[in-house]
Amino acid sequence: MVKPIRDTDGPRHVAVIMDGNGRWATQRGRPRLFGHHAGAKRVREIVQACPDLGVKYLTIFAFSTENWKRTQTEVAGLMSLFRRYITMEARALCDQNVRVRFIGDRVRLDKKLVGLMDELEQMTRGCTGINLTIAINYGGRDEVARATKRLAQDVAAQRLDPENVNEETLPKYLDTYVLPDPDLVIRTSGEARISNFLLWQSAYAEYEFIDTLWPDFSAEEFQGLINNYAGRERRFGAVSV
Ligand code: IPE
Ligand code: IPE
Ligand code: MG
Repeated sequence: MVKPIRDTDGPRHVAVIMDGNGRWATQRGRPRLFGHHAGAKRVREIVQACPDLGVKYLTIFAFSTENWKRTQTEVAGLMSLFRRYITMEARALCDQNVRVRFIGDRVRLDKKLVGLMDELEQMTRGCTGINLTIAINYGGRDEVARATKRLAQDVAAQRLDPENVNEETLPKYLDTYVLPDPDLVIRTSGEARISNFLLWQSAYAEYEFIDTLWPDFSAEEFQGLINNYAGRERRFGAVSV
């Protein structure tokens, strides 16, 4: 039986929907990409804050499977920003002992970007500090669909008996198979929706929807949300004792 817990140790895995870059730029009369660049700079501060806050896993939503609907200029600008971010941050991430992983479907991403993603994953393979997972071309439904396809292939090849499929089986096929489920999901920019992020994994996550736009999100505000989490009681369907 799972006992209700008051998680005074704080969240081990925090997932963040980094939203509001476009509005932040518009408020300043600047193009949306200006906001994305400002947003990328914030990531470093939040990653650096994790060890002191006891956060072992940080998963950030950078580009969704739905974000292709944006203008070609914005999409191309974001892809170029991801390439630049990886190139510029790789050394610092290694030095901070950060293990980087990417989730999402790589098939639609350009080869140069995928090459840089693979390289950074390889470079940080031996890092034992925090686990940073970056979701690019990620959608929860797409992830479950891709997982189901591979599961069905294993059944067809008789590597898996359908009788043995249960709640533990599907997560092994998800992009996040090596990660624990998120304890806390934060969304910035005032929208109270999850926009297809970690659908399966967040079934019992705690949520924080805050008004701050992502480029204004600070380590102090992050710490405040981590502290709030410690006061919550996670019952997992059981009754408070
Ligand atoms: C989040 O900021 C970053 C991405 C989705 C890539 P937005 O670009 O969605 O910013 P708003 O929501 O338009 O302000
Ligand atoms: C969610 O933000 C995706 C990322 C933060 C990468 P969106 O701005 O794309 O979500 P919607 O369109 O407001 O639901
Ligand atoms: Mg948005």
